[in-house]
Amino acid sequence: MTIKHLHDVLVIGSGAAGLSLALELAPSVRVAVLSKASLMAGSTSQAQGGIAAVLDSTDSVADHTADTLNAGAGLCHDDAVRFTVSNSSENIHWLIEQGVPFTRSNDVTATTDDYHLTKEGGHSHRRVIHAADATGQAVASTLIERAREAKNLDLFENRLAIDLVTHRHTGSDKPRCKGAYVLNEEADQVELFQARCVVLATGGASKVYLYTSNQDGASGDGIAMAWRAGCRVANMEFNQFHPTCLYHPQAKSFLITEAVRGEGGKLRLPDGQRFMERFDPRLELAPRDIVARAMDHEMKRLGVDCVYLDISHKSKEFILEHFPTVHERCLSFGIDITRDPIPVVPAAHYTCGGVMVDHQGRTDLEGLYAIGETSFTGLHGANRLASNSLLECVVYGRSAAEDIRIELAQADTSLPNLPEWDESQVTDSDEDVIIAHNWEELRRFMWDYVGIVRTNKRLQRAKHRVDMLLQEIDEFYSNYKVSNDLIELRNLAVVADLIIRSAQQRKESRGLHYTLDYPKTLTTAVDTLLVPTNSPL
Ligand code: FAD
Ligand code: SIN
Repeated sequence: MTIKHLHDVLVIGSGAAGLSLALELAPSVRVAVLSKASLMAGSTSQAQGGIAAVLDSTDSVADHTADTLNAGAGLCHDDAVRFTVSNSSENIHWLIEQGVPFTRSNDVTATTDDYHLTKEGGHSHRRVIHAADATGQAVASTLIERAREAKNLDLFENRLAIDLVTHRHTGSDKPRCKGAYVLNEEADQVELFQARCVVLATGGASKVYLYTSNQDGASGDGIAMAWRAGCRVANMEFNQFHPTCLYHPQAKSFLITEAVRGEGGKLRLPDGQRFMERFDPRLELAPRDIVARAMDHEMKRLGVDCVYLDISHKSKEFILEHFPTVHERCLSFGIDITRDPIPVVPAAHYTCGGVMVDHQGRTDLEGLYAIGETSFTGLHGANRLASNSLLECVVYGRSAAEDIRIELAQADTSLPNLPEWDESQVTDSDEDVIIAHNWEELRRFMWDYVGIVRTNKRLQRAKHRVDMLLQEIDEFYSNYKVSNDLIELRNLAVVADLIIRSAQQRKESRGLHYTLDYPKTLTTAVDTLLVPTNSPL
């Protein structure tokens, strides 16, 4: 018999988005928060640079808005940008109230009385509030601490949501999300989480690429689940490649924060020459798409594996105060950043597209919300401005909570009978090697054919391969018991397909989407919308 959990609200994901929402709701309604690994899993705890917000008296909503629109290359939704930026300061203060220990200003570069603000690419002001170079760790551990103390908030670790339960499972003709089937990885059993509202806060999909800054999660589960449930997704072709990930054979996915460039770090070729002046007058602080493409161009031109990021002209004290995490991690690989340049390469970092939502995080399906990196709010356009992501998580997480509160007050309180998970037709897999092989193949062709520079031919090749994989994975999923790797692979293949199809639809180069076949930017900027055949609209 399937174990059943009943809550008012089911939040799938324990990052900044999921926990901001849960903390807003928990005292008044019964909330469950799931994480597919530990509560610290996901990108939030990995965040380094900080959170962009209008906090300094010389800064303004108009300037932060203009920088966001500028980075977004014509595709940002004005209303989403204004909504996010005008709520930025209030949401940072909410985080401070929760207890996030942001770095106080105590040096000459400080521009506020209270908190140190750093600078990152594309920002015209110092506006990134941070906790040294481990902002995500500070945000995640504080929110988790608050969540552990909160009443009416149940936290579940090692629970991997497989699929949403909707009206289709109950035979109702009123479209609505009603819960989710979830793999309890400790018990190796599928459980049913039933709720009146469900929130996808599952993070991004950068694991679809072979090289990524995302250490765990990031398999696009929320996007794939929403797509299967009938929700539209948008702008999936815009994958942000962070310019500076550590290049070292033993370093898996370690980011060198953009704040290193913000504080004066220079990019150099192996012979020590700088090169950014040939690409953009803003040099190392040009938006990420420009810096990553310039690096890719130089690495291909010279046939080298990496370029170098050099902050060694700053004093040792400054480096240790601002970048203790980066310093320590690099030192563990024999690189002393106070003296040595850091070998760096671009890697997949952030999913700008996602599940289409409004300002309250509402998707196309009643009762289903999406927030954080899983969602597409229109804030990032064709390229996300650095440090706008955590801001979006908190702003939309809290605004969705407000909407859910209203929804719950009006919604039908009865909970329908939902069908149990049926595994009567499946057996244990005897060929897990297929899953491992398909993971590797998918991530490699996405990197080679759907990466920083695309062409029609490369996209066609990728489409051909993903079609075969989708079919193979579907057969596997229908015949064998689910496992963590199979569930993630199934989702990654769906997301890869959505990325390729979106990239094929865009007949121009814009922001993060660059193709040699259409190098120009069209005069009119249009979102790429994909509509599933089972859309409730
Ligand atoms: P995440 O924090 O990724 O959390 C996802 C959650 O969903 C996890 O709890 C995970 O376990 C859970 N989950 C996923 N799938 C399932 C499933 N199927 N079932 C159950 N649970 C599931 N942004 C900034 O603004 N500033 C920065 O300085 C910054 N630095 C970054 C540094 C790095 C190295 C990386 C990788 C990203 C950085 N970003 C930064 C981006 C930012 O961290 C993320 O976009 C943001 O944290 C996403 O938060 P989230 O709540 O949407 O998802
Ligand atoms: C970084 O610290 O460089 C990451 C910032 C971001 O992704 O917004």
